[in-house]
Amino acid sequence: QKGGYPSFMAKEIHEQAGAVADTLLGRLSDGSLQLDEMDIDPSVLRSVDKIVVVACGTAANAGEVAKYAIEHWCRIPTEVELAHEFRYRDPVVTEKTLVVAISQSGETMDTLMAVRHAREQGAKVVAICNTRGSTIPRESDAALYLHVGPEIAVASTKAYLGQIAACYLLGLFLAQVRGNLYPDEIAALMADLEQIPDQIQQVLDNSGQIEQLAADMQDANSVLFLGRHVGYPTAMEGALKLKEIAYIHAEGFAAGELKHGPIALVEEGQPVFVIVPSPHGRHSLHSKVVSNIQEVRARGARTLVIAEEGDDAVLPYADEVIRVPATRTLFAALLTVIPLQIFSCELATAKGLDVDQPRNLAKSVTVE
Ligand code: M6R
Repeated sequence: QKGGYPSFMAKEIHEQAGAVADTLLGRLSDGSLQLDEMDIDPSVLRSVDKIVVVACGTAANAGEVAKYAIEHWCRIPTEVELAHEFRYRDPVVTEKTLVVAISQSGETMDTLMAVRHAREQGAKVVAICNTRGSTIPRESDAALYLHVGPEIAVASTKAYLGQIAACYLLGLFLAQVRGNLYPDEIAALMADLEQIPDQIQQVLDNSGQIEQLAADMQDANSVLFLGRHVGYPTAMEGALKLKEIAYIHAEGFAAGELKHGPIALVEEGQPVFVIVPSPHGRHSLHSKVVSNIQEVRARGARTLVIAEEGDDAVLPYADEVIRVPATRTLFAALLTVIPLQIFSCELATAKGLDVDQPRNLAKSVTVE
């Protein structure tokens, strides 16, 4: 059942190239993006003036990535809110609000209650979901399925990548319907997105270095993760994975926030993962993150840097460089998280923990 892997989590991590390929499969026809399940009237999609993504845990981190993509492509103000906070704070929701509910299981009660609340206020709800026939897509106006296959491990990995890929499809579809991007721009973005499964496979094929790192770091009692732009939710997700299955204190930060407090945590030997954006994207973004690596290293941190192939600017400040293939800044979220997933999985396995069934957690949280 585990296909020769020590855990379902390890198996699911290694299925991610195919998983993302399946999420993207058959979406482009005659140069235009087709999302057949999106049966919300285009005039309604054109009238949307705000998007609110509601989700919990890993799905909320996928939502944070979605926000960067949707705002960039569609110019629609987009918020991401933990579903349990959204539901109980009297949020501003109107008929012009599009609520995007992300849930692997489709049964998370917190997210379901947020969906019900949004619909009561007249909002349209699109569910991004993995489990066909589950409650959240049934109670939504439209559903976009991940098609990544069943996810057994409590820690979400392949569904996270599928959720991000599905959010990109939703963003591009909205940009198409609303005329924010030209058809050739959408085709170029889709062409790059379709390269991602092969690039995921390259990351997986090079996992030896991160596996060794995990084996050497079993005694760590705190690990920090830093990133900017989509590297920020990636840092949050890396920290969540480590807490969840390896029971190690971990925190993800927006790298720019360091100097506003968290840098006080850094002392000699503190492991800090840093997710570096492409040097070929916005230059200032890249150079700011390189400065952040420098700042934590100067205070004694052990810097574990995830950077694009050929990015040599990080070398003077990195104790370890983990390479990922080059892609657009936005799409890197589908690559840079993989070493972090492998790190947690390997570390928890090396500690002899139950990777697939971590203590105190359930795969699907069906209570509020
Ligand atoms: O099924 P859902 O996507 O709604 O689940 C949401 C969270 O409970 C879930 O992502 C949780 O954070 C994972 N165990 C993280 O790996």
